[in-house]
Amino acid sequence: MPANDAEKVRDYFERASDLFNSIYTGEKSAFGRLLDKLLRPDLKERFVLTLREIQHEKPQSLIDIGVGPGQYLKAYVELGVPRITALDFSKPMLDLAENLVGEPPGGVQVSYVVADFMEYEPDQNYDISIAMGVFDYVADPETFLLKMKNISNRCVLASFPSISVWRTPIRKVRYAYKRCPVYFYNRARIETLARKIGFKDFEITKIRGSGMDYFVRFDCD
Ligand SMILES: C[S@@+](CC[C@H](N)C(=O)[O-])C[C@H]1O[C@@H](n2cnc3c(N)ncnc32)[C@H](O)[C@@H]1O
Repeated sequence: MPANDAEKVRDYFERASDLFNSIYTGEKSAFGRLLDKLLRPDLKERFVLTLREIQHEKPQSLIDIGVGPGQYLKAYVELGVPRITALDFSKPMLDLAENLVGEPPGGVQVSYVVADFMEYEPDQNYDISIAMGVFDYVADPETFLLKMKNISNRCVLASFPSISVWRTPIRKVRYAYKRCPVYFYNRARIETLARKIGFKDFEITKIRGSGMDYFVRFDCD
């Protein structure tokens, strides 16, 4: 039985890796695909925004925390980022990612790490650290974001789920049923968090639509 919130989240994403992956692959019923199209356009948009930053920054190294089933990872490899760490505490998620990416081309090195980010001790920093769709499940976002800042040379990219009058209560009920904690943000809470941690520059982009993510770039210097 999971003992704390992080274990509940890990337990959930060990059970739900195929389900989450099906949002990307479309391997589900026509009704399921329609629901994803209506309710999850933010997933596509945060992917596009993340890749835009990577193309612009051309990092030598990055870590994707909560990398999930590998669609982001595949894109970083295709963009030729030389040193990539793919971290997730759900082993089934990392297996999907490794399967999707296969053998990386020469000049690209991918390390797969099964770990809770809060317990991960990297031996060197990364140019960029990324956490997409992860702060939804983090009980202590201040410590988590500070740790991301401390291991990043240039910037941190992260998404935060926004609060919506109708989507948030539905999501809370769905996740309570799945025994997985879930958290929500507004712009003021993200700004407070950023200042408390010591980020001087950050840019918050609200993905269009009710209950959609905030995409945030935090600059490290
Ligand atoms: C909703 S999925 C998002 C996956 C991917 N980033 C994407 O957007 O396609 C969240 C992922 O974060 C992972 N995760 C959540 N908290 C984590 C933590 N503390 N350490 C490592 N992985 C974590 C989960 O196991 C899950 O695979």
